[in-house]
Amino acid sequence: MEKTAPLIADHPQPPLAEKLRIISFMGGDMGKFKAHDSETHAQAQAVGKAAKAGDGAGVILAFQKLQTSCYDCHREFRKPFVAHFYGAR
Ligand code: HEC
Repeated sequence: MEKTAPLIADHPQPPLAEKLRIISFMGGDMGKFKAHDSETHAQAQAVGKAAKAGDGAGVILAFQKLQTSCYDCHREFRKPFVAHFYGAR
């Protein structure tokens, strides 16, 4: 947990060209998309912190919030994103 959480929190950024394509597709929604992203980042850090502190209940709580943050962004953005970049599914 302690080692894995930062992999989510500090995940690598996509290459610039890809980033620009995403930003242009998102347009006015980019702020919201970024907000979801930083929420996930914060929760992943919380998981790492709780794990480091040996706080089992804290890890579970933070992990639950982390999963909720994944879900929140998917619910809002994943469908149009996949349709646009990968063709309708
Ligand atoms: C800021 C928005 C956002 C957040 C936060 C986010 N995702 Fe996603 N995710 C997406 C989008 C958009 C896609 C679809 C695009 C793609 O597949 O490349 C996706 C696709 C995926 C896929 C691929 C699914 C498939 O059908 O191939 C997985 C797995 C995934 N996300 C896991 C996660 C997990 C786990 C988290 C939380 C730790 C997370 N995501 C947080 C936006 C987000």
